[in-house]
Amino acid sequence: MPQELTTDPVPEHERPAGIDVTVAHNARVWNYWLGGKDNFDVDRAAGDQVKALHPGIVQVALADRAFLGRVVRFLAGEAGIRQFLDIGTGLPTAENTHQVAESVLPAVRVVYVDNDPIVLAHARALLTAAPPAVTSYIDADVHDPDAILQAAAQTIDFGKPVAIMMLGILNFVLDNAEAQRIVSRLTDAARPGSYLALSHPTMELGGEGNAEAMRFWNEHARPPIRARSAEEIERLLAGLDLVDPGLVSCALWRPDRPATAIPHYGVVAVKPGRPSA
Ligand SMILES: C[S@@+](CC[C@H](N)C(=O)[O-])C[C@H]1O[C@@H](n2cnc3c(N)ncnc32)[C@H](O)[C@@H]1O
Repeated sequence: MPQELTTDPVPEHERPAGIDVTVAHNARVWNYWLGGKDNFDVDRAAGDQVKALHPGIVQVALADRAFLGRVVRFLAGEAGIRQFLDIGTGLPTAENTHQVAESVLPAVRVVYVDNDPIVLAHARALLTAAPPAVTSYIDADVHDPDAILQAAAQTIDFGKPVAIMMLGILNFVLDNAEAQRIVSRLTDAARPGSYLALSHPTMELGGEGNAEAMRFWNEHARPPIRARSAEEIERLLAGLDLVDPGLVSCALWRPDRPATAIPHYGVVAVKPGRPSA
């Protein structure tokens, strides 16, 4: 059980139903670092403590979102992908997957998946596709890829290539074998020519300072998090082909302006084989 941080308690009548405001939660703290308003005192206190231990964390969050934008533009553009399964969506922010994809392709289909009740409460904001585009939202746990695939099949045709987006989510799957099972189950269900995009915190790339911040997070906030090395992430991608420039700091994945490395990996991989028509 995380230790409580000292903050003013949210009065009972102001607590949103079903949302735990006594412990910091990742979706809300991520929203805080991104400059959003969907967070509580406890999230801001934990977010500030992590920032004190790992001052680059706000740059990491911003670089991760910029990576998302570049990746979705690549996938919907050059790669010709028309369907996206975005697992670990986070709270709606400026450039969500469906908005970036729709700016490239009008008829894109996007399924969002998250298990945080506050993301669910804001899911309406993620469901604003203009026809012929379609978006849907699934309240599900990444540990249950079968449930995700089953529900996503109402919107996504798995007979056609799909992009599976897993940005900042596998770091909450602590066990490597479990992370492998999830990635394999999802990519096995996808046709050749489908893509997997991943971002993940690391102690590499100058991220040694992450250790203390992660220890603090795991004692005070939810869900518990871990870093992975390039070698561990590459192992998760076995059987897939890495798209240029491979596994790099997400800030350096096809940057559209001069950028420096931050301790957060980003990678896009494609399932080899002949794509369906
Ligand atoms: C760091 S945020 C990343 C958000 C977004 N993908 C991005 O890159 O900006 C991680 C998200 O994963 C969600 N998440 C964490 N554990 C999860 C789980 N077991 N199942 C589903 N979603 C989870 C959190 O609620 C949060 O919204």
